[in-house]
Amino acid sequence: MKKRDKFSTTIGFILSAAGAAIGLGNLWMFPWRLGQYGGAAFLLPYLFFVYILGTTGLMGEFGLGRWGQKGAIGAYGKVLREKGKHFGRFIGAYPVTVTWGILLFYAIVTGWILNYVIASFSGAFYESGEVGAYFGQLAGQPASIIWQTLALLSALGIVIFGIAGGIERANKVIMPILIGLFILLVIRSVTLPGAMAGIEYILVPDWSYLLQPITWGMALGQAFFTVSLSGAGMVVFGSYLKDSTDIPASALKMVTLDTAAALLAALIIMPAVFAYGLDPAAGPPLLFITMPEIFRSMPLGEFFRVLFFISIFLAAISSLISMMEVVVEGVMDQFKWARAKSVTIVALTSLVCGLPLAIDMSRFTAFVDLITIYLAPAGATLAAIFFFWIFGVDNARKEINRGAEKPVGSWWNPVAKYFFVGVAILIVILQIAYGVG
Ligand code: TRP
Repeated sequence: MKKRDKFSTTIGFILSAAGAAIGLGNLWMFPWRLGQYGGAAFLLPYLFFVYILGTTGLMGEFGLGRWGQKGAIGAYGKVLREKGKHFGRFIGAYPVTVTWGILLFYAIVTGWILNYVIASFSGAFYESGEVGAYFGQLAGQPASIIWQTLALLSALGIVIFGIAGGIERANKVIMPILIGLFILLVIRSVTLPGAMAGIEYILVPDWSYLLQPITWGMALGQAFFTVSLSGAGMVVFGSYLKDSTDIPASALKMVTLDTAAALLAALIIMPAVFAYGLDPAAGPPLLFITMPEIFRSMPLGEFFRVLFFISIFLAAISSLISMMEVVVEGVMDQFKWARAKSVTIVALTSLVCGLPLAIDMSRFTAFVDLITIYLAPAGATLAAIFFFWIFGVDNARKEINRGAEKPVGSWWNPVAKYFFVGVAILIVILQIAYGVG
C-alpha cells in the first residue's frame, strides 16, 4: 500500500485548518447573526461555545482521524470493529454525506463570488444601474452554472494534488494574503465617516437576546460550522497528522485564528454598512448587493471592491477544498479508487446534484438551512458520542495528548463526555422544537 499522505509541517497544518475554518461562515453568516441576535450579547454565547465546545470537538475529530488513519467512514468503522460490530462505516457515511451537502451549496456561492471577482475589475455589477438586478440575474439562474463549474474546477485543481502538495501548499499561499487583505479592508472601513455607528452595533450588547433560546441555538450552530465541525470535516485532516503534532495547541490556534477572522469580517462589513446608512440585517444579500453598493460611492471604491471580492474568494476556496477532501477521501477509501479518479467523480457529481439548487433560490435557501441548522450539528454530535462514549474518553484523551507539549488533564473528561455531548444534544433538540430556519 502507498504510504498515507501527511501534512509536512505543523504550521502548514494550522494554516490549512484555518483555511478550512475561515470561510463564508465568517464573512457572510457571522456579521449578520451578530447584528441580528443582540450584537455583543451574541458574542458571549458564541465565544463560550467556540472556545469550549469548538476546541473540544476539534480535538475529538483530529484525534479520531489520527487514531484511525482514515476519514470518518474508515475511522468510525475501526472504532466499532474493535467492539466486534460492523456497521461503523455506515454510520460514518452520514457526516460525510452531510459535508458533501455543504460542498454542494458552497460551490454555488463560490461560483457567485468568482463572478463578482471578475465583475469587480470592470464594475460590471453597476451596469444595469442596480446591483440587486445584477445579482438577480446570476443567483438562482442558469447563468450561475458556469460559475459553479469554475468553482468546482478550481477546487479540483488543488485537491487532485493531495495534502502536502495540494491543500497544504495552497493554504500556505492563500492564508497570509487573506490576512493581509482583511487588515487593509478593516482599516478602510473603520476610517469611513460615520463608521462608529457600525462599531457600536457590533459591540453594544442587547442582553435581552440571551433570554431567547434561538440566540443560543444560532450561536452553537455558528460555532460548529465556523470551525468546520460536522462529524467528518476535521476527522479527515486528523488522518493526515503525524504522531508528533500537538493537537490541543493546534486546535486552540485554529479557533483563535477563526475567531479573529470573524471579528475582522464584522469590522469590515458593519462600519461600512452604517457609514452608508444601509440595512445591517439584510442577510445573505449583504455581500452581493449591499457591499457593492457601498463600494460605488466609497473613496477608492474601485480598488477596495477588487480586494474585497478577492479576499472572499480566497476564504471560500480554502474552505471548499477541505470539504471536497472529506468526500474524496471517503470515496477513495470506500471504492479503492485512485485520487485523480475520485476527485473527478466527486466534482462532477457535485456539479450535477447541485444544479437543482443553483437554478432555484428558494430551494437553495431551504437546503442551506436544513444542512447548517439541523443535519451538520447532528453530525458533530454523533462524532462526539462516537469518540467520547464508544471509543471512550480516556482513550480519546490519550490519542489527543500524543505529541502535546501541554497534555490535557483528566478534568477534561467530563467536559467532553457530558458537557459537550449534553449541550450539543440539547441544542439540536431545541432547534428542532423551535423550528428555526
Ligand atoms: N468553516 C467553513 C466556514 O466557516 C465551512 C466549512 C469548511 C465546513 N469545511 C467544513 C463546515 C467542513 C463543516 C464541515 O465557512
